[in-house]
Amino acid sequence: MYKMFEIAMKENFAIPSVNFVDREMIRAYAEVVNETKLPIIFSIAESHLIYIDLKEAFLLAEYYIKKYNLNAVIHLDHGQSTEIINEAMELGFDSIMIDGSGLPFEENVKITKRVVEFAHSKNIFVESEIGHVGSGELTGISCSADDDTVYTSKEEAIKFAKLTSTDSLAISIGTVHGSYKGKPKINFERLQEIRKELSIPLVLHGGSSSGDENLNKCAKNGINKINIYTDFIIAAQNANDSKMGYFDNKNAMKEAIKNKLRHYFKVFDTKEMK
Ligand code: 13P
Repeated sequence: MYKMFEIAMKENFAIPSVNFVDREMIRAYAEVVNETKLPIIFSIAESHLIYIDLKEAFLLAEYYIKKYNLNAVIHLDHGQSTEIINEAMELGFDSIMIDGSGLPFEENVKITKRVVEFAHSKNIFVESEIGHVGSGELTGISCSADDDTVYTSKEEAIKFAKLTSTDSLAISIGTVHGSYKGKPKINFERLQEIRKELSIPLVLHGGSSSGDENLNKCAKNGINKINIYTDFIIAAQNANDSKMGYFDNKNAMKEAIKNKLRHYFKVFDTKEMK
């Protein structure tokens, strides 16, 4: 993760962080990564553990990384409970997100600092969030009970990064998880202000349906990781045809997911790492 971000920051591009909830999704991603040789982050969200076990997801990701020798890392997305975070660390996750974004600032600092200290003793990368990316429609990612978007302030971002020693920081600049109720209004000035002040990788959550131009602009202006999930689900759903047989349907959905990832690699300007 450290090496990936070093290159992405130097060369101004973003790496897709793609969530998966079953073998079909990870297999689709893995095939595209094998074909393109581009870097990827395979993410398992704590709120998706109702669909797949943490160990099952980890073993699947590990299987495809080894099978194709992929330039990929395994990441826990929106980690909130101590048990799940500890389990992920024990399983061998490369990277953990501690999501305290629904908590008051001081509490978010406290919990993030604790996770950073422990994770760093095991050489595990930590992402955290300040401000709060809320939820739109059709989202499988739940982050906090009160799910309204709170934009990240520059001052809070600087203070939070300094106090916690987080490796990367998810900031809230106008995207939401899932589909939008209205149109996304991305605050690029805020992004540039924060980018100027911080030297760690910045993360954008809620990439789906945010608009290709917006996402490309984010990647070019300092976002190094873009989380995408809902758009893959929608692509698969749209390819689903009840008149087709089981295997043809599975294949059509896989191809739809693959095309979406090929598309986002281009939008994010993701580059091969030699
Ligand atoms: P979307 O489902 O909106 O792409 O968000 C994914 C995400 O941010 C996962 O953390």
